[in-house]
Amino acid sequence: MTGTYLGIDVGTSGVKAVLIDETGALLAEATASLDVSRPAPGWSEQDPAQWWRATLEVVDGIAKSNPEALSRARSLGLSGQMHGATLLGKDGGVLRPCMLWNDGRSMAECAEFEATCPTSRELCGNIAMPGFTAPKVLWVKNHEPEVFAKLDKVLLPKAYVRYMLSGEMIEDMSDASGTLWLNVQKRDWSDELLAATGLSRANMPALAEGSAPAGLLKKELRQRWGIAGAVVIAGGGGDNAASACGIGAIRPGEGFVSLGTSGVLFVSNEKFRPNTEGAVHAFCHAIPDTWHQMGVVLAAADALNWLARTVGRNAVELSRTAEAQFKGPAEEIFLPYLGGERTPHNSATARGSFVGLSHLTDPARLAQAVMEGVALAFRDCGRVLADAGTRIDRLIAVGGGSNSALWLRMIATNLDMEIQVPHDGDFGGAFGAARLGLCAAEGADPRDVMTMPRIKTVVQPDTSLSAAYAEHYARYRALYPAIEEARK
Ligand code: XUL
Repeated sequence: MTGTYLGIDVGTSGVKAVLIDETGALLAEATASLDVSRPAPGWSEQDPAQWWRATLEVVDGIAKSNPEALSRARSLGLSGQMHGATLLGKDGGVLRPCMLWNDGRSMAECAEFEATCPTSRELCGNIAMPGFTAPKVLWVKNHEPEVFAKLDKVLLPKAYVRYMLSGEMIEDMSDASGTLWLNVQKRDWSDELLAATGLSRANMPALAEGSAPAGLLKKELRQRWGIAGAVVIAGGGGDNAASACGIGAIRPGEGFVSLGTSGVLFVSNEKFRPNTEGAVHAFCHAIPDTWHQMGVVLAAADALNWLARTVGRNAVELSRTAEAQFKGPAEEIFLPYLGGERTPHNSATARGSFVGLSHLTDPARLAQAVMEGVALAFRDCGRVLADAGTRIDRLIAVGGGSNSALWLRMIATNLDMEIQVPHDGDFGGAFGAARLGLCAAEGADPRDVMTMPRIKTVVQPDTSLSAAYAEHYARYRALYPAIEEARK
């Protein structure tokens, strides 16, 4: 009897579970939604109890819809939204709501962290950004000292779910990279970086590679889900590294461009390759001896959704109208910094702008400008990755926004490289996590398991627009410093 492999992604808007067989074919899936609370401008929090409730709900769902296949489960892989600070006391209880990856309150603490540990950028290879975990914990230390006094362990969202599933506190290298406490080159916690937050190794979970075993599913949960044998929990990955495993981007130069709520330009590297000046994220990959870089655009599809809500239209319909009218770069320029920006500006206080409005500006032209603004933000990411010496050989498009052919053409033209679009399928974090679980349970080589999907279309750069976009990009780049100066 052959085994099956579960993957669970603890996302921001929902938890998703998939069940695959040993060939990677999808057998079942289930999702449950989550809420985000925004108690103050720029804050973003979630109650860890919600993740656990949603995790039980999705696996219960698969136990109901596919009981026989689930009974043969041999492993469980975890993927998760990165960077969130889940603070636990000595009894393993949660001390406060988790501050999420898109929480921008800890800008001052980023400066404090870097001043306390002047070598932090060399040690972890990343700039301290409010999205990351360490500044959030420093914020709690400064603003909620009574909570900090009780702090025993800091877990990332998926490590908290692993703790609930197995009773063990373990984190994988890719997610641990986003804390600022990991020496990313050495793949080990850094005592100096931890000390800059008033913490030590004792406050951290153990570390494991994403494709290695990292815990066993509790017996009572196996009984609840009708699983007969032992279920190995794999280290898993941060959602981007796990998605890369899902899409097969694990060899140097292979990457993806993700047009989800946020936008990510991801590329795998054979070695640790930081570029802190350009606010590149330089992290471990979810498989051994491999690293990756990312440029992160905080508002991608989110920016188009914001416009759609604001003008009372539907985002897909707006992008189609923009496509029908498209003749080349718009007169209007949009800076997509609605909630600050990570790459390349590292600013939680940056804000979006429309420039160049006229009597002719209508919702479709605004939509084109928004899509272009996001494409130009990806061009910024491509530039700083190239500055770090990275060559991208292959890019696959993922995320809801990649259904727009125009948007992909804009991005391909601005990155000056072709983008491959896979046949419909699910290549998200949950699928990548299930593949990592398959490796952990069977000892399979990730290179045999993390294959690429079948490609449906290839979007080429539109060379007839290259010169016009080069000029447009120069204007776009000049606007950010000018507008920030005026907003001071
Ligand atoms: C990456 C990041 C986001 C979250 C979204 O650095 O913050 O992509 O992981 O879940």
